[in-house]
Amino acid sequence: MSDERFFDRLYDLDDGDDVRRHYQRFAADYDAELTSRGYAQPDRVADALVAAGVPGDARILDVGCGSGLSGVALAKRGFSQIDGCDYSSEMLARARATDVYRHLYEVDLNAGELAITGSPFDVVTAVGVLGHGHVAGLALRSLALLLESGGWLVFAINELAWPDGDAKPALDQLVEDETIDSYEAQIGEHIPGLGSRGWVVIARAR
Ligand SMILES: C[S@@+](CC[C@H](N)C(=O)[O-])C[C@H]1O[C@@H](n2cnc3c(N)ncnc32)[C@H](O)[C@@H]1O
Repeated sequence: MSDERFFDRLYDLDDGDDVRRHYQRFAADYDAELTSRGYAQPDRVADALVAAGVPGDARILDVGCGSGLSGVALAKRGFSQIDGCDYSSEMLARARATDVYRHLYEVDLNAGELAITGSPFDVVTAVGVLGHGHVAGLALRSLALLLESGGWLVFAINELAWPDGDAKPALDQLVEDETIDSYEAQIGEHIPGLGSRGWVVIARAR
């Protein structure tokens, strides 16, 4: 029996299937592995929405919602209309148990255009989802297309994947072709127990 732990290979997984298998396997350990290391990004993203003046009844889609830590952080700040999606059924089962999501969808965010009931949304969040063989920068386009005009796309990303990596060029392209109006990025804590920092990027759709 392997004694592999969640973080041993997290940043070294081969491809999307490997990433999905990893989350399927470690879904039961995920919350403890992250929270014991002070995982900061769910709170940072939820605080960024509050600071931007997003109303509590905004319709939010939390993509790559995992076990629901990101949705719980939103609910704690009074956001009440939160849907979620992920491609790991095991992670989604845990998200369902938090009771903060209205609807949960099993989708592969790298599969192209997303058909999600309930779109357009006022906000799309993606916490810890882009980079490292997880969701490709190109997916930012399909996420932006789920937004209402003037909606917010907010994501939290490890400093190893921003500004290097494929997310920043993809977002810059969305600004260039006027899908996204503008964005701001702020560095801060990511997973302090691992010594990692990360960015919260907040973008506004045209
Ligand atoms: C680090 S976890 C973040 C979970 C949650 N947002 C949080 O902050 O705790 C990354 C999540 O992205 C999901 N994920 C990775 N690649 C995906 C893909 N291509 N499509 C959908 N979900 C994906 C994983 O299943 C996992 O639940």
